[in-house]
Amino acid sequence: MTVEQGREVVLGGGDVTEGVVRVGETVRRPLRAHSSAVHGLLRHLELVGFAGAPRFLGIDEQGREVLTYLEGEAPGRPLPEYAATDDALVGVARLLRGFHDAVSLYEAPADAPWDTAFTTNVDDPPELIGHCDVTPDNVIFRDGVPYGLIDFDLARPTTRLFDVVNTLRTWAPMADPADREPVFRRLDADAVGRRIRRFCDAYGLPHDQRRRVLAVARLRFERSHESMRARAEHLGGGWARMWRDGVGGRIRRAQDWLDLNWDALDARLV
Ligand SMILES: Nc1ncnc2c1ncn2[C@@H]1O[C@H](COP(=O)(O)OP(=O)(O)O)[C@@H](O)[C@H]1O
Ligand SMILES: [Mg+2]
Repeated sequence: MTVEQGREVVLGGGDVTEGVVRVGETVRRPLRAHSSAVHGLLRHLELVGFAGAPRFLGIDEQGREVLTYLEGEAPGRPLPEYAATDDALVGVARLLRGFHDAVSLYEAPADAPWDTAFTTNVDDPPELIGHCDVTPDNVIFRDGVPYGLIDFDLARPTTRLFDVVNTLRTWAPMADPADREPVFRRLDADAVGRRIRRFCDAYGLPHDQRRRVLAVARLRFERSHESMRARAEHLGGGWARMWRDGVGGRIRRAQDWLDLNWDALDARLV
């Protein structure tokens, strides 16, 4: 496609991708090995009319993917108050559910090159293509309401439950108070447990799945320590930066926090 004449505005905020820019109503991002898999997914979401994801418009003359720009803002860090409310949490849960329902019938090509190297997963058979990175950097809010998911780089076959747990990690949050966003530091385990429940209710997670949330979180923490280390070592860039910044220690502390507060959290779940 033809590059529109327009100013390129650098979009910061993400941890990993260098060179994300906005040009008019589009976003340009460098292509990676998994991009064609993501493009197939975005095309499916467009086909079924899911409004909460960018449209894939093609490849520009510099070999970058061209996506629609979603108007609004990713709350990012430090997390603003408006994104830490129960209403925002409920909105994220509904958005994730809408995405899962929209993607559940997608039959990806068997050889789609999802980014599965060094990723964390659970052992359950995959049910759908999950987003796998629904953090405050990757959710677009408009008028205080979450309505869009961006950055599908980690999308891959997984389960609904894994994607729910992964999302709860930053939104509940499931983390040691010292490592949380300031707005979440004051929440005790009881309050976090309530937020997990609120999320599960809004998502519509069945009770048998809900009972597995903490166990899947524990498994995820165990495995993500190793996968983050491997990404830092083999992929470098933003992954290496996150590792140097101490993400490994944060994962370990989250694990300890989860174990220490297991009963209080569990009591709130069902
Ligand atoms: N399609 C989009 N619409 C609106 N904002 C976007 C879009 N894509 C990226 N951004 C903005 O750019 C930031 C970084 O882009 P992202 O694709 O998340 O890169 P990274 O892989 O580094 O996380 C996002 O946090 C968001 O603020
Ligand atoms: Mg991002």
